Amino acid sequence: MSDSSLFIPVILGTPRQGRQSEHVAKFIVEQIAARDRLETELIDIRKMAIATDDAGESIKDPQFSASMERADGLIIVAPEYNHGYPGLLKHVLDTCLKEYIHKAVGLCGVSAGSFGGTRVIQNLLPVMRELGLVTIFYDLNFSNVEKLFDESGNLIDKPTYIRRMSKFMDELVWMSSVLKYGRQEVR
Ligand SMILES: Cc1cc2nc3c(=O)[nH]c(=O)nc-3n(C[C@H](O)[C@H](O)[C@H](O)COP(=O)(O)O)c2cc1C
Repeated sequence: MSDSSLFIPVILGTPRQGRQSEHVAKFIVEQIAARDRLETELIDIRKMAIATDDAGESIKDPQFSASMERADGLIIVAPEYNHGYPGLLKHVLDTCLKEYIHKAVGLCGVSAGSFGGTRVIQNLLPVMRELGLVTIFYDLNFSNVEKLFDESGNLIDKPTYIRRMSKFMDELVWMSSVLKYGRQEVR
C-alpha cells in the first residue's frame, strides 16, 4: 500500500449463532473495499481462539494484535445485548492497548429494536476512550435488523445504507488520515 492508503479492519463483535450482525459487517467490508486507497479485513471474534480463563494483554492473540497495530482506523460492529455490548467483544478488545492509541474508530450499532443499537454505542464510548481510540461523530445504526436483509444476506434497501455509510466513511477516512499524519509527523 502507498503511504496515503489506509488499513481499516472491521470487527464483527458477536459469536452468536444466527447473528444478524454478520450481514451488517459483510456489507460494511464490501463498501470499504469499493473505495480507493482503502484496505480492509473482517475480524470475526467467533474465530479467535481467545482464552477465557484470563483477561487483558496476557492473552493477546498475535494475529489480532498485528491487525490492530497495522490499522489506521477501525470499525466495530456491535449488536445491542441488554443495552450493552457482547461480553466477548469487550474481552477481545481488552487484549490490546498500545496497538490502538491515536487511531480512529467508527461504531456501528445493530439491534432488533428501533433504536439501531444507540445504547450499545453509548456504552462503548467510554471504553473507546480508555483504549486510546478516537471516536468519530457519525455512527452507523441498523435498527429492526431482522427485516433489513433478504435470505441471502443482501440489504433490501441498499441505496439508503450506501448513502449513510458514505458519510460515515468520509468522516472515518478523514480522521484516520489526520491521525496517521500525526503519528508519523508530530512529536
Ligand atoms: C442476550 C441478548 C440481549 C439482547 N438485548 C437487546 C436489547 O437490549 N435491545 C435490542 O434492541 N435487542 C436486543 N437483542 C436482540 C439483538 O439486538 C438482535 O439479536 C439483533 O439481531 C442483533 O444481534 P445479533 O447480531 O446477535 O443478531 C438481544 C439479543 C440477545 C442475544
